[in-house]
Amino acid sequence: MCGIVGYVGFRSAREVLIRSLKRLEYRGYDSAGIAIVNGQLNVEKKKGYISNLKVDFDGTIGIGHTRWATHGNPEDRNAHPFVDCRGEIAIVHNGIIENYARLKGELISRGHEFKSDTDSEVIAHLIEEHYKGDFKEAFFKAIKNLEGSFAIAAIHKKERRIMAVKKESPLVVGIGDHENFLASDIPAFLEYTNRVIVLKDGEVCELTDDFARFYTMEGKSIRKRVEYVNWSVEDAEKSGYEHFMLKEIFEQPKALYDTLTSLESRNEWQVDFGRITMVACGTSYHAALVGKYVIEEILQVPVDVYYASEYRHRPEIVEDSMGIFITQSGETADTIAAAKKAKELGYFTLGITNVVGSSITNYVDRVLYTSAGPEIGVAATKTFITQILTLYYFAIKMARIRGRISTRKYHVLRENLRRVPHDVERTLKMNERIMKESEKISRARDVFFIARGVNYPIALEGALKMKEISYIHAEGYPAGELKHGPLALISQGVPVIALVPEDKTYSKMLSNVKEVSARGAYVVGVSPSKDVEKYVDTLLKVPETDPLLSPFVNVVTLQLLAYHTARILGREIDKPRNLAKSVTVE
Ligand code: F6R
Repeated sequence: MCGIVGYVGFRSAREVLIRSLKRLEYRGYDSAGIAIVNGQLNVEKKKGYISNLKVDFDGTIGIGHTRWATHGNPEDRNAHPFVDCRGEIAIVHNGIIENYARLKGELISRGHEFKSDTDSEVIAHLIEEHYKGDFKEAFFKAIKNLEGSFAIAAIHKKERRIMAVKKESPLVVGIGDHENFLASDIPAFLEYTNRVIVLKDGEVCELTDDFARFYTMEGKSIRKRVEYVNWSVEDAEKSGYEHFMLKEIFEQPKALYDTLTSLESRNEWQVDFGRITMVACGTSYHAALVGKYVIEEILQVPVDVYYASEYRHRPEIVEDSMGIFITQSGETADTIAAAKKAKELGYFTLGITNVVGSSITNYVDRVLYTSAGPEIGVAATKTFITQILTLYYFAIKMARIRGRISTRKYHVLRENLRRVPHDVERTLKMNERIMKESEKISRARDVFFIARGVNYPIALEGALKMKEISYIHAEGYPAGELKHGPLALISQGVPVIALVPEDKTYSKMLSNVKEVSARGAYVVGVSPSKDVEKYVDTLLKVPETDPLLSPFVNVVTLQLLAYHTARILGREIDKPRNLAKSVTVE
């Protein structure tokens, strides 16, 4: 998983490429590089962040790359771009070339010399192998040999054109006036243009100063539609917040409002199914678990939830199920593989994603988009909250269509949902209070999150946020499970964050709070009820809501707790170690 960029026009390619790459650093940041043509082909690439690059050349056409290592360690020689033996062709690649070992063997036997351990380098040599004076033709011939997933951009020393292709890795083109852009994701070039063309699998593009042409991989011309993206550049930048993650936490009321507005304007809901299978990874998996509680409660249809990486090992049981695949990036390899499998089994498949035209949209029958805007912080926040809103809305809508709830109840539930952005707005006012509480948490070695019912997945999500950005060991448990093992881990001063909504879990949660308190835990209650103060060491009093909607205010509280804890510890919040925003490897 990596980010690629390309530019051809009248500006300084060095500046455009570096600025664009910085906006893609969330896709990987273990090495970076750029190649620029200015009569000759110049390449600079280095291990580490983009800021490590020392580029002492410039021109007006070039390509760039930011890497998250898959084949070959993060080292200078494994950084992109890669060049051919003659130093005339440079390529950048995002994805995996599955047949690279065979291709490399063949190319070596024809005299090609390789300098890296990567799968990607074969692409530069393959183009060289087919080059007989026509770069475009050589590019088409070369890509026919590739198996696997790829978004590739290539340039030639003697040509003023960028050739690019997409298959199962994202690629978008930005259209300018006498200039054109290419990137793995829209924010890369948003400061220059908001006119965007999204490539589909198997499509090739040719970019020059004055045109963007599109083809099939067989070379047949195709027409593509230009889309206008209404995100502002500020949407894609930090807007004065210390970190993208904090900015994105504070954008949640708007993200919720936009998502609800978009869902309410949608007409296409009717679909038949007896049960639902939901599949996702990480935070999106937690959204699926919230969805299970809500759908079973409101729609009264059984729901099974699977980690995408596990779903593929499941026996092929054909059932009257609809498959829902949740992925904010739309690029997670495991979730895409699971969607393919479900389709083969004949399921009706629905994708929930935040990225228009992302890969998952090619593999499902129907797509529900969350409207969270670009999320740059690696830790998912606003995409999670809009995923759960989408699942609530789905449950209510389907329950009405199936006559499971009365028209009156339907309107009450929708009204409650419309209040969610406001409830989240009020929760954000607790920021300073949560910041103070984080001081204590930042000194802990372990933190436990407990809850029951629809808030159990929120406890899991709170623990995931805590561990991924603060690096403090954190676990989420169904509170009733403590006595079956985890209670042995509770000792003097260990923080336990207990979610205590005023619903049917209330009294049982208080019993669990007493259990851990009696063993010396430092208990932080998260509850709308002032009464809870009597049982805990400190209370984070969240706004009162309909109890079924309490996950919204609770998750925002836990996101802020994780954020401030990580900030106090001086962590790289937007780019936690070993992680990347979209995980396109299985
Ligand atoms: C954690 C996080 C990850 C993602 C997971 C799936 O904050 O963001 O756990 O949720 O990698 O990603 P998507 O939703 O893009 O499929």
